[in-house]
Amino acid sequence: MTSVGILNVTGYAGSELARLLHGHPHVQLTGVTGRSAAGKRLPEIFPHLWPIDLPIAESLDGVDVVFSALPHAAAVEQLLPYIDAGVPVIDLSADFRLKRVDEYEAFYKVTHPAPQLLQRAVFGLPELHPDEIAASKLTAVPGCHATGVILALAPAFAAGIIEPAVVADTKTGLSGAGRTLGLNVHFSEADENVAPYALDGHRHLPEMTQELGSLAEAPAPEITFVPHYIPMTRGILSTCYAQLRPGVSLDRAALMRIYRDYYAGAPFVHVSDAPPSTKHVAGTNYCVVHPSIDRRTGRVVVASAIDNLGKGAAGAAVQCLNVMLGLPETAGLQSLALFP
Ligand SMILES: NC(=O)c1ccc[n+]([C@@H]2O[C@H](COP(=O)([O-])OP(=O)(O)OC[C@H]3O[C@@H](n4cnc5c(N)ncnc54)[C@H](OP(=O)(O)O)[C@@H]3O)[C@@H](O)[C@H]2O)c1
Repeated sequence: MTSVGILNVTGYAGSELARLLHGHPHVQLTGVTGRSAAGKRLPEIFPHLWPIDLPIAESLDGVDVVFSALPHAAAVEQLLPYIDAGVPVIDLSADFRLKRVDEYEAFYKVTHPAPQLLQRAVFGLPELHPDEIAASKLTAVPGCHATGVILALAPAFAAGIIEPAVVADTKTGLSGAGRTLGLNVHFSEADENVAPYALDGHRHLPEMTQELGSLAEAPAPEITFVPHYIPMTRGILSTCYAQLRPGVSLDRAALMRIYRDYYAGAPFVHVSDAPPSTKHVAGTNYCVVHPSIDRRTGRVVVASAIDNLGKGAAGAAVQCLNVMLGLPETAGLQSLALFP
């Protein structure tokens, strides 16, 4: 058994990670930390995690792998000693996702204390970087919107069938905003309400450009990305629109083949004949992708659905762990959606 620990179990991503690791056949969760809850036991903070009766400590000692579910900036600070000691690290924050420190600092408005690590860190999307993750000791789990959009568009960019200008629209459940309270998640303001946000450039945008740009020949993708909060707890539905390149003529069956071939070895991506819905992936590590063509306009329209706390965060972190440890990629992650 490999022993693993979670820095900051007290948020939604950290608690979901604890839930998933409890059911993992090859690893054991042996330590958790949490700033405001240090000294308490995990079930005191999260009663639904009653079988995981661990003390919430101030640091992790003697674990084989460290997960961090801290917010950005706090993550890199707390992870540096583990990275320096050579402990494999899987970080759920944005601190190691971007290769360009100027982009990180522009979008996150903080100075990166260890920019030399950015080239070493691996973007934790096994569908795109399986070999790098297998060899990695520092893996950065992608942002939840970035996962939904990249998985929706990667086959089309890799095949060179779409123009670089794409529009990506996402609808996200409120757990995406985390457990920290804010007016945007206040029940009486969020219920029966839909609103776009971050229209001047959401923080997950540079990840999308970085990753999709690495698949396509120049020119680089130009992505207009607008997320929307909707009144549900979990899930992200992404709808992405792109023009077919001049001279490319495809029918829906040919587009399906491109997607199915691209994801042939990806156990967590299901290319579906029907449009996805967030209920098809709730509580899972799956991404359901549905590519289609609007023949009147010559546009490819791709919809994808993930659970923001599953494939968008904790599930993806466990998938990366499996790849890093050489375990079956699906270990501990095989449950299907909670439905209805
Ligand atoms: N929610 C998602 O869907 C999602 C998806 C992908 C990635 N992520 C990433 O996962 C990480 C955690 O997100 P979350 O949604 O779980 O957040 P969250 O539910 O809001 O939890 C944040 C936690 O961080 C603690 N915290 C805040 N500032 C801290 C600091 N400076 N030092 C130590 N602890 C601090 C808070 O604990 P206190 O009680 O001590 O204040 C709180 O429990 C973030 O990096 C986020 O970007 C989240």
